[in-house]
Amino acid sequence: MTKGYFFGYFALKFFVSMKILLLGSGGRECALSWKLAQSPLCDHLYIAPGNAGTAQYGTNVALGINDFEALKSFCLDQRIDILFPGSEEPLVNGVYDFFKEDELLRHIIIPGPSKEGAQLEGSKAFSKKLMARHHIPTAAYAEFDESSFEQGITYLEQHSLPIVLKADGLAAGKGVVITSDREEAKAVFTDMIHNEQFGAAGKTVVVEQFLSGIELSVFAFTDGKNYVLLPEAKDYKRVGEGDTGPNTGGMGAISPVPFADAAFMQKVKEQVVEPTVQALRSEKIVYNGFIFFGLINVAGEPYVIEYNCRMGDPETEVVMPRLENDLVELVIKMEAQKLDEVTIQHSKKAAATVMLVSKGYPGSYEKAKPISGLEQVKDSLLFHAGTSGAGADVLTSGGRVIAITSYGDSIKEALQQSYQSASLVNFEGKAFRKDIGFEF
Ligand code: AMP
Ligand code: GLY
Repeated sequence: MTKGYFFGYFALKFFVSMKILLLGSGGRECALSWKLAQSPLCDHLYIAPGNAGTAQYGTNVALGINDFEALKSFCLDQRIDILFPGSEEPLVNGVYDFFKEDELLRHIIIPGPSKEGAQLEGSKAFSKKLMARHHIPTAAYAEFDESSFEQGITYLEQHSLPIVLKADGLAAGKGVVITSDREEAKAVFTDMIHNEQFGAAGKTVVVEQFLSGIELSVFAFTDGKNYVLLPEAKDYKRVGEGDTGPNTGGMGAISPVPFADAAFMQKVKEQVVEPTVQALRSEKIVYNGFIFFGLINVAGEPYVIEYNCRMGDPETEVVMPRLENDLVELVIKMEAQKLDEVTIQHSKKAAATVMLVSKGYPGSYEKAKPISGLEQVKDSLLFHAGTSGAGADVLTSGGRVIAITSYGDSIKEALQQSYQSASLVNFEGKAFRKDIGFEF
């Protein structure tokens, strides 16, 4: 820390106190609450709607994250300084523009992109075109809609296998189908375009080259001009051990990622992160806050699988515990377009999270099961993902219930601790993957 920076930080602490409204109710928002509440710059934290875990770090308020008029009234009544969107939904729906176009709300800091910027996540076709224009490495692709349906079928007949099909819009992780069966590919394609199986998201379909490699999640935090990189992470999306079964929101995560060494991360910065920030800037797309790069390492080279306009879940549950910087200070620096003054400090410790889920997830599952043993966990952080109630009376209220995060000198050690803590927490139908971090 330079001397100027040192004094600057304490001056900031002395003069600034922020009222923050965080939007969301999952494990990611619980980890963000935990982190924001630690900041001396945070005067009061509200979470809309929050869960039983976030209530430990701030005040839950019963507001819908997409009810912009209700958010407006609350922000004015409570004199909110920072509106912090946890998930992509309000961003893709234009919460940034809604606030910035309103004279009474314009001063509120939002670590998140404009509606146009959120298209990075909200539209596969938008992000693929942006990458093509700026030579950012990604799978080769073609885009089809109703008017080019026949060309699409011809394209699929000639495409190498396996084929990756992606519905254009937000589809809550269910819009991607990968198949080695050409007939199935054609059937899915037809469904996506004609039968609107994927809702409005399916009207445009992106057909992609299949990339073979190992995935990781990289997070930049940008002020539109500068960016900092947060610790990288790897999540485990499939429900079953050995990466089998259907995709979930994420069953666990680790950070750091062993293969993301300095040489690989240098390539990520030069070939992916910098060109993306530069692309948004040069095209005058207003973009603040997080850019989540879903990357795949193909023989040592990074390719973009997808962009998201928010932090990952459950990646946040390992990234925030490893981030040593003050998150509120990062947001203030972002607003001042001074992220170039910030050096990211992260713990040398590894972090691992194991997600306890409800039996049946990601299919149907039962809710409102009492959770016991939370108070017995002393050596892990408990980030509630789908819980309701308070104090000793906490009930399950979602598919993903609790993320158990631990530190360790190695990923193995962190995982051992999380599994040890997982054995102390119980509810009817508790399920979890026993092999998070299995490759390392
Ligand atoms: P997406 O919603 O674009 O992140 O895709 C969901 C998952 O599908 C990714 O996490 C990858 O595991 C897989 N996937 C997507 N695109 C490709 C691709 N071009 N090649 C291989 N796997 C892919
Ligand atoms: N864990 C992946 C995501 O948040 O999209």
